[in-house]
Amino acid sequence: MDITALKQKVLKAHDSQVQLAQNLAKIGYNSPRGKLLRLKSYYLEGFTILKAWRDFLYIRKENIGDTFFAVDHAIMHADHAQVKKLMQTEPQVRSNDLGIIRIIDPSYMLNHPLSLGTNGKEHKGIRAIFSQALPDPFDHAEALGQYVNRFLSESTKQDQLHIGDDLPRFMVKILHHLVFDLSLSEAEVTASRGYIKGLPLASLPKFITKTLLASKTGPITKHRKQLTQRYQTSPKWAVYEDIGKQYGLNADQIANGLFDMIHIAGTAGTSALMGSVIGVLCLKDTLRADVLQEINTLWSDTEILTGDCLRQATLLNTVILETARLYPPVRFVSQLATEAGEVEVGAQKCPFQKGTRLLGSIFTANRDANRYDNPDSFSVDRDFSDLLSWNGDGHERTCPGKSLSIELIKVFCMYLFTQYQWKQFTDVKWDFEKVTAVTPNDLVLQGFTAKT
Ligand code: HEM
Repeated sequence: MDITALKQKVLKAHDSQVQLAQNLAKIGYNSPRGKLLRLKSYYLEGFTILKAWRDFLYIRKENIGDTFFAVDHAIMHADHAQVKKLMQTEPQVRSNDLGIIRIIDPSYMLNHPLSLGTNGKEHKGIRAIFSQALPDPFDHAEALGQYVNRFLSESTKQDQLHIGDDLPRFMVKILHHLVFDLSLSEAEVTASRGYIKGLPLASLPKFITKTLLASKTGPITKHRKQLTQRYQTSPKWAVYEDIGKQYGLNADQIANGLFDMIHIAGTAGTSALMGSVIGVLCLKDTLRADVLQEINTLWSDTEILTGDCLRQATLLNTVILETARLYPPVRFVSQLATEAGEVEVGAQKCPFQKGTRLLGSIFTANRDANRYDNPDSFSVDRDFSDLLSWNGDGHERTCPGKSLSIELIKVFCMYLFTQYQWKQFTDVKWDFEKVTAVTPNDLVLQGFTAKT
């Protein structure tokens, strides 16, 4: 669709959302009709976002302002100050949403809410298990290095490293190894990839996922069931179960929480960011040379990789943070309004109801010109103290995998750029249209070998 037609469509749909605010105030937000109307706008706008997510956001931001309605009549916040404030709200009330995606068919997720959708004691319990399960990367630098090196060395056999295919496979494997001490077969890794790719299917009603799409969803749910049962054979399981018991969590809740942590948060997010960092370093010759110099000063490949090497790799650290600012793997955060109120949207005041979804758009907030100078250009000289990409810092919903994901990407780059080489690489392109991971998915390092 050309941009003028898209603009008309996106703005016209917003007019309907403004009208919907008045209607919901009359008919009730959660009345059967209210629910139906919200679901209708969710699917209508969802299809546009699936194909043109960045244009959708910027058309509304530029023509309406930093606060507007979107999808299921959620209130979207698009600037840095508002998104930061939203992230810091405590306690946060969540529903079963994955960013912008509403999990309409919980049976697809085996009736377990995502950890993101848990509240109160359940959320505290699953967070306590996450923090037990995720190792401190600084204490495990050597082991992480060995694992990364083994993976890269195996990739030389296929003569290439494919960013969109190989990095998620790597993340699924290493996280199962770290969290459960389990090795996954290649077939299990492929099935796990299928689960991640199929996540948006959970936004369809049960009668569609269970009937029309049964051939797609059946194998995915079967894989989830099998893997969560395997987790309970892990040598680390007893510790997780003990913590869970203290918070009233049963074995299913624990296994499914860890399954989601590994697959959705850990694998999808980290492989996307790792791919973007590799893409940035492939494109920027001077920056890559400076990063290489830093690594070579800190670490020679004959020495053991230590936590101190990772701590001192400050340039590589800022490259990762700046890449996460420009290409945040998680683009939206979601919570619910605890009170009804009134919101200023464009020039109008609109009523909203208790339970309305409040969305924060990390992508637009990270490129807010009021917070970052020349927000669309890459610079390692920024103040990253309130970077939003990992859901901020120091509050109940901050990403628990922040440190592990950053240090793992560091270790990966340290090995990749000093001990491996490639003859050429294909185009480095980020897709800002289709709502897939923001990473150069098609980038391939061809003629991939170990340096001699
Ligand atoms: C080892 C890798 C990672 C693991 C294990 C991990 C784990 C998690 C978990 C379990 C949550 C849910 C927290 C909760 O419900 O309180 C979460 C949230 C989040 N993570 Fe991560 N994560 C990882 C990597 C990343 C990366 C690379 C990014 C982006 C740069 C990221 C961004 C976020 C954000 C924005 C949230 C908040 C989502 C929301 O509240 O809706 N994570 N992460």
